[in-house]
Amino acid sequence: MPHGFRGPRHAPDREVPYHRPMSTPPSASNSTPRGNLACVGLGMTLGSHLTPLARSHIEQADVVFAALAHGAAEMWLQRMHPDVRSLQPYYREGKSRLKTYREWVDLMMTEVRAGKRVCAVFYGHPCIFAWSPRTAVEMARAEGFEAHLEPGISAEDCLYADLGIDPGRFGCQHLEASQLLFYERRIDPTGYLVLWQVALVGDWSLTRFETGPAYRQVLVDVLSADYPLDHEVIVYRAPTLPIEKPRVRRLALRDLPAATLTGEDTVVLPPATPLQPNLAVRKRLEALDKEQAFA
Ligand SMILES: C[S@@+](CC[C@H](N)C(=O)[O-])C[C@H]1O[C@@H](n2cnc3c(N)ncnc32)[C@H](O)[C@@H]1O
Repeated sequence: MPHGFRGPRHAPDREVPYHRPMSTPPSASNSTPRGNLACVGLGMTLGSHLTPLARSHIEQADVVFAALAHGAAEMWLQRMHPDVRSLQPYYREGKSRLKTYREWVDLMMTEVRAGKRVCAVFYGHPCIFAWSPRTAVEMARAEGFEAHLEPGISAEDCLYADLGIDPGRFGCQHLEASQLLFYERRIDPTGYLVLWQVALVGDWSLTRFETGPAYRQVLVDVLSADYPLDHEVIVYRAPTLPIEKPRVRRLALRDLPAATLTGEDTVVLPPATPLQPNLAVRKRLEALDKEQAFA
């Protein structure tokens, strides 16, 4: 990420930690206003991850907003559409990211309400650790506009491919690193643990773009309840430019505070303990099999 270019950060809804389902899209009717909204993912790697459907939303829009991790990606987008408006300038050091993201939603909704076809492009997947696309789509639907979320290739997808991880093998827990510190969470060390936004772990204010070693030490202390300090952690960065390669660093958990971390790094902890057979449930299933003659 070039200096000064901020990739969108997740602003966890700290007050509402439970699941709140989205409303279903309203069906189109004659009374539906013409304005509409599509929030699409650009994928991670410039030029190679954009899906044909996402591209078509971009090309057919009247206005395109861009919240991308790289200036080059914005320039590439400008070749697809003459009116690309960067959301980058709304970030400011010391300003709450939640305020920035609310401003983004306002910008999108102002154009939708004015009857425009609006497309907002986010790097990666627009629903993965991203607050404004989901919020804007929810708001647009609540006001009777058609709104759509179009998936993109996320850092999560790249991570599975580049690290050779199948989340179905041992299971895989994804957590925003700060949430692990702010709340009582139950880690399952028999599966993978993926920690997002570790560079700014422990920032309750939502105003900082990085915290530092002392905050990461708190994270390590929390993790040490479930992992030995010499357990391997993988610091992973997916390529954002086609000339780049995935960056994979392996280090001991105890060394995480001293490691150099950027806003683009995701941290993976491989399983630390073997799966334990659930003998009681196996016995119950065995009895069922016998009963139903599958034994
Ligand atoms: C706000 S989230 C955005 C995620 C994005 N929506 C996606 O689908 O991947 C930002 C976090 O994504 C992860 N991330 C962003 N860029 C990355 C990259 N190039 N490689 C690996 N992880 C990345 C980091 O954990 C970062 O703190």
